[in-house]
Amino acid sequence: MSTGFPATRLRRPRSTVWSRRMVSENSVSTGDLIWPIFIREGTNERDPVLSMPGVDRLSIDLAVQAAKHAATIGIPCLALFPSTPADLRSDFGDEALNKDNLINTAMRAIKDAVPDIGLLADVALDPYTSHGQDGLVQEGQILNDETIGVLVQQAVVQANAGADIIAPSDMMDGRVGAIRTELDKAGHTGVQIMAYSAKYASGFYGPFRDAVGSTGVLSGDKKTYQMDPANRAEALREVALDISEGADSVMIKPGMPYLDIIREVKDKFQVPTFAYQVSGEYAMLVAAAQNGWLDRHSVVMEAMLSFKRAGADGVLTYFAQEIAELLDT
Ligand code: PBG
Repeated sequence: MSTGFPATRLRRPRSTVWSRRMVSENSVSTGDLIWPIFIREGTNERDPVLSMPGVDRLSIDLAVQAAKHAATIGIPCLALFPSTPADLRSDFGDEALNKDNLINTAMRAIKDAVPDIGLLADVALDPYTSHGQDGLVQEGQILNDETIGVLVQQAVVQANAGADIIAPSDMMDGRVGAIRTELDKAGHTGVQIMAYSAKYASGFYGPFRDAVGSTGVLSGDKKTYQMDPANRAEALREVALDISEGADSVMIKPGMPYLDIIREVKDKFQVPTFAYQVSGEYAMLVAAAQNGWLDRHSVVMEAMLSFKRAGADGVLTYFAQEIAELLDT
């Protein structure tokens, strides 16, 4: 019996819409979406991030409105990032521990108005430091253990303000375990940790740094803590360590250039695995679509499917609102 052509014709199940739907292996749903939003000071303020057309920094009142809308269209979780005014940045990033800083105030306001949406808070010092590094700096070195001492406090302050998921994005060694211990001590045994486990030192973060006001600020690069894009085995070690320290879920970042890592992590560890489609990925697709070079709708959905096919359980994406609205219609 022949198993090849002409008995086998792979075009046969592809030939009609109904049949393509039946044999489709992956799908995107609103449950896959985490929507990162940028918070700024003020009231009724919305200012565009120029390198991310369509993305605005929102004052807290407008962020609350966005959260209400997100809940209505089925987005399960928001990730909040602060655009900290320059005068509140300092060498030690003290503003990170201010219980009334932008992020914490925003989380309380959103929890109050939209109790059923999940809130993810990034743990790292870069939005608050005058040098734009994620950790404390001494003589040009990023200090590991001393930074952890601050990050654990930042995590507890955020959990107190209503964070459901603490997401350490700093890439210091040992921070997941230390954060777990401090959260538990503070009574936050139910607060999750989503570890930015395999976070690469990437050029694709450029627009994000514009959005949070780190662009002119950052001195040097982040290569002594973020991973080398050449490395694959090391990503698996990072993930293994974070799981052993108590991470509930892990993240690979950026997204599309690292689909191979997502697949390997999912296959090997079978834990909830997330991708971050970062600011530069957003900017590329939007810029090409604005020029008429790509069809926005189709590439946005194709990118999402690529994450799902690679094994991601969900995606942090600036397209979240757009995707949820498309799925709704
Ligand atoms: C901060 C942080 C960064 C991003 C998320 N959290 C930037 C960085 O590490 O420099 C990037 C997100 C994006 O580019 O969309 N530690």
